[in-house]
Amino acid sequence: MALLEVSQLDVRFALRQGEVKAIRDVSFTLERGERLGIVGESGAGKSVAAFSLLNLISKPGFIAGGSIRFEGQTLNTMSERGLRKIRGNRISMIFQDPMMTLNPVLSIGEQMVECLKAHRRISSREARAIALDKLRQVQIPSPEKRLDQYPHELSGGMRQRIIIAIALLLDPDIIIADEPTTALDVTIQAEIMALLLDLCEQHNVGLILITHDLGVVSQVTQRMLVMYAGRVIEQGPTREIINDPQHPYTQGLINALPQMATPGEKLNQIRGSMPSLSNLPSGCAFHPRCDFIKRADGQTRPACVEQVPGFVQTGNCQVACHMVAELLEDRRLKEEGQ
Ligand SMILES: Nc1ncnc2c1ncn2[C@@H]1O[C@H](COP(=O)(O)OP(=O)(O)O)[C@@H](O)[C@H]1O
Ligand SMILES: [Mg+2]
Repeated sequence: MALLEVSQLDVRFALRQGEVKAIRDVSFTLERGERLGIVGESGAGKSVAAFSLLNLISKPGFIAGGSIRFEGQTLNTMSERGLRKIRGNRISMIFQDPMMTLNPVLSIGEQMVECLKAHRRISSREARAIALDKLRQVQIPSPEKRLDQYPHELSGGMRQRIIIAIALLLDPDIIIADEPTTALDVTIQAEIMALLLDLCEQHNVGLILITHDLGVVSQVTQRMLVMYAGRVIEQGPTREIINDPQHPYTQGLINALPQMATPGEKLNQIRGSMPSLSNLPSGCAFHPRCDFIKRADGQTRPACVEQVPGFVQTGNCQVACHMVAELLEDRRLKEEGQ
């Protein structure tokens, strides 16, 4: 049994104008110590997926179906009291904005001590010693001094190091990091990402890394999910997907990376933009932007417009695309015919 098993997760927002299906049919597993990336453009449903794992979706949002199992316990039906024992303790979260986690009126030390004492029976002195040790682990300069400082006295990079120290405070099994470096300067982004990777490896902590940055995913994770308009459209080992993407959308994302551009020419952006979730195209949600909707004979593939594609297995990856399914079927028929 995997450490975390997410199965057919369906999250909706009940709005006055109607129900928005933010994520649909999202399934994945995470093994102990494994690092999984979730990528996709803004609005794809990545944050909704992250928040729903710890039942942190607030009204008008709700989990409409599916399950989230952690060590065999079902988190989506667990009591708030039960969940509080898991949140921050067994599974912790890192957000893009450190101020979402840090309390501006408490010193760093006070926040860390409070967090430890809420979950463990220890003295303030013991808690302070653990806090100091974690600050050392995140390689913050003058860690003793930081304990008595307030969040606003620290730089963005230092605040994010503190957030990582807090995420590690109770020796969690999993860290969910939602765009953890997006708000930082590019030079600091790489340092913080390397630190997070290093600490997860050292302590065998599983990581769910949510980002729009394929470069980061390819450096840090072993497996990845690509999300589009609330669905997973491709998933598998990161190396395989980056080297040989199957879904036209994943191919587009990889071609749009700056390193794939010809110097002096425009970046290869995917044409169009992601649809609004309240007004999804029929069939495959990517079809209006897809360059492969036409078959070799020039005819539009009807399934692309009419049916939501299911997953097909190719190599170690699963891909939700009618064209890929057709290519696989053609190959199978050819092999059978020989
Ligand atoms: N509080 C909310 N109220 C209504 N709809 C929401 C809310 N939060 C998210 N959504 C819907 O879910 C979609 C996905 O959001 P999100 O998970 O934040 O995207 P991502 O993190 O991939 O950029 C949004 O485009 C929006 O339609
Ligand atoms: Mg987000």
